[in-house]
Amino acid sequence: MKKLTIAIDGYSSCGKSTLAKAVAHELHYVFIDSGAMYRAVTYYAIQNGIIANGVFDKERLIKELDAIHIEFGPRNEDESHPIILNDRDITNEIRGIELSSWVSDVAAVKQVRQKMVAQQQRMGRRGGVVMDGRDIGTVVFPNAELKLFLTASIEVRTQRRFDELVAKGTPGTFEEVKENLQKRDHIDSTRIESPLRQAEDAIVIDNTELTIKEQLVEVINLVNSISLGIIS
Ligand code: CDP
Repeated sequence: MKKLTIAIDGYSSCGKSTLAKAVAHELHYVFIDSGAMYRAVTYYAIQNGIIANGVFDKERLIKELDAIHIEFGPRNEDESHPIILNDRDITNEIRGIELSSWVSDVAAVKQVRQKMVAQQQRMGRRGGVVMDGRDIGTVVFPNAELKLFLTASIEVRTQRRFDELVAKGTPGTFEEVKENLQKRDHIDSTRIESPLRQAEDAIVIDNTELTIKEQLVEVINLVNSISLGIIS
């Protein structure tokens, strides 16, 4: 069967990566977490004092972009990939609330997006890819055969992210997590450079009341229908 390109977009913490990993596993596709790349750039900015004392020196980040090399390491059992910044595995250091509070400002910078999008397009050019993010169906892969736009209620999204942070031992309070999600959603949807929005040809899945399994079955059915030419 033809290997498709699958784009999954949506608001913060509505299960895009969970779905993308499950789909990649089922279909033997490559999963790419585009958000991890923006988080890696933000990590660089914090480590190098480009973000310090509550101030983000955007011009300095733009000047130093050539010094930022991001790659994904070999696939883990759960289909995720370690994220490597300048030869260092930073996978476990990019999900905290402090970094999360800056990532949308960093991701709004045009030059950052241009660099990340070019790399994402190179990684996905052979198809057989599931990529999740905010602009995958609109900007990175506008010709993707399947575009999904996920949504879920803010309460459910906050609970999911809160549980994830607790499990990792780096929690904020429930309220802090909720505020962070809402703030990022706002910045992501209102920025000038490729804002988060639903592609016209995306299929919307509200997973507030769906289990991971139910959601997966729905998506695999869609993939099969597209591959067999039943729907386009
Ligand atoms: O996991 P979560 O949905 O909370 O976020 P993420 O996918 O790790 O993405 C972190 C941030 O990166 C988002 O809030 C966006 O600001 C930015 N991002 C983006 O601008 N474009 C993408 N394709 C992916 C992420």
